[in-house]
Amino acid sequence: MKKAKLLLDKSFTQNAVDDRLYSSFIEHLGRAVYSGIYEPGHPTADGDGFRGDVLELVRELNVAMVRYPGGNFLSGYNWTDGIGPADRRPKRLDLAWRSTEPNTVGIDEFFKWAAKANTQVMAAVNMGTGTPADAGAMLEYCNHPGGTYWSDLRVLNGHRKPHGIKTWCVGNEMDGPWQICQLSASEYGNKAREAIKIMKWTDPSIETVVCGSSSPHMPTYPEWDRIILEHTYDHADYLSIHRYYENAGDDLNFLASFHDMEQFIHTVTSTADYVKAVKRSKKTLPLSFDEWNVWYQSQIKLEDWTEAPSILEDNYSLLDALVFGGLGITLINNSDRVKIACLAQLVNVIAPIWTERGGKAIKQTIYYPFELLSRYGRGTVIRPALHCPKTETAHGDTPLVNLCAVHDENKGELNVFALNIAGEELLLDADVRSFEGLSLAEHICLDGNETGLTNTFAKPDAVKPRNIEIANEVVLPKKSWNLLRFTSKPTAP
Ligand code: AHR
Repeated sequence: MKKAKLLLDKSFTQNAVDDRLYSSFIEHLGRAVYSGIYEPGHPTADGDGFRGDVLELVRELNVAMVRYPGGNFLSGYNWTDGIGPADRRPKRLDLAWRSTEPNTVGIDEFFKWAAKANTQVMAAVNMGTGTPADAGAMLEYCNHPGGTYWSDLRVLNGHRKPHGIKTWCVGNEMDGPWQICQLSASEYGNKAREAIKIMKWTDPSIETVVCGSSSPHMPTYPEWDRIILEHTYDHADYLSIHRYYENAGDDLNFLASFHDMEQFIHTVTSTADYVKAVKRSKKTLPLSFDEWNVWYQSQIKLEDWTEAPSILEDNYSLLDALVFGGLGITLINNSDRVKIACLAQLVNVIAPIWTERGGKAIKQTIYYPFELLSRYGRGTVIRPALHCPKTETAHGDTPLVNLCAVHDENKGELNVFALNIAGEELLLDADVRSFEGLSLAEHICLDGNETGLTNTFAKPDAVKPRNIEIANEVVLPKKSWNLLRFTSKPTAP
């Protein structure tokens, strides 16, 4: 059996994991909003029309923030369409997804939903058709206490207390030709900087996120990041990046996606640090990885001008969940720079939660690794010393195991997440002796012989993690994603 040797030392601390690493995203796209989070008339709907079954599943994920309202939708969205009396809101063409947008849900409703879901709103302002002044107006509407046109309008609409939204994305993927009103790097850099000035003058307590490259495949990458940061470095608080993976037919390459993500993060970080040096700045810019997931982008089929069409409803397999879990491990290992990460998206659209109109809400396979990462991946990252065999993949020389460790000193536990991409079992020789009193109490594993298996409405539990009995040796099953919990006493079954 192949072996991996792991040393975890209590003093090799890296950083505290920011809770916002476990954030997500809801866009006005497909059925994310309508018949996803909002479906008046659904048997579990509350007085505001929000689905109770979905709220329960979202709460279980313990999501720190939810980015809203887009995505590509954002770049054609007039936020004022979504406020005021519902019967007077206009229906609009959504040019990003070729759908019809009823505007029944807007920022006020979403803010209410987020409170019920125990999460915060990460708002986004339109830098496509929208202007810096529009961005300032939206912020004034949301955060200003009162006594001005926009803040009084919020009060008139029934929301006396300001929403107090702290984190604001300034546009979305403005490097992409698919974006409504795409901009060049210097055009976006100028526009974003002026928008941020207006926004921060309106409310100095906010944080802003500027659009970095939407993927390393962009011809403008990483020049885009350099140029936009040269315009915005002193004003912005985070640089946004996005990355999706899909299986191009080779399981090993797909499983090794984490290695590509790792390199993407490092290149973007180096680019940001280059601008820091050019600017002689003392500030180090953190990253907001505000869209990440597995997404079968090559299979998109849009419907023309339907309201809430069933589009981008990827049904995730076990293999997808393994890849997804590997990406989550890489985010934790890079959480010294990645402070915010949004699983894109949350409900129905490339999502861990899948609903039927008027029916069930189920957990897709990717729900499980996210839930476990979010529950047990909080605390201090311990830098692992890992020696394990490597293999050549499309992403370069790739370790067969991707692993991270998080120590929660208050709870007295050490949690190790490990993805084994090999098609065979791997013995993990873990030395954790500096964590006195802690021993392996639980081994949770996501694996199976049928890696193509998915959860469906007919069989919602086809894929879920299992518990592996603790033995003298830790064996990571072939193609598996694992959580090893070291605690001071064995966890009750
Ligand atoms: O999440 C789906 C889409 O992916 C978003 O609208 C866009 O920002 C990205 O290209």
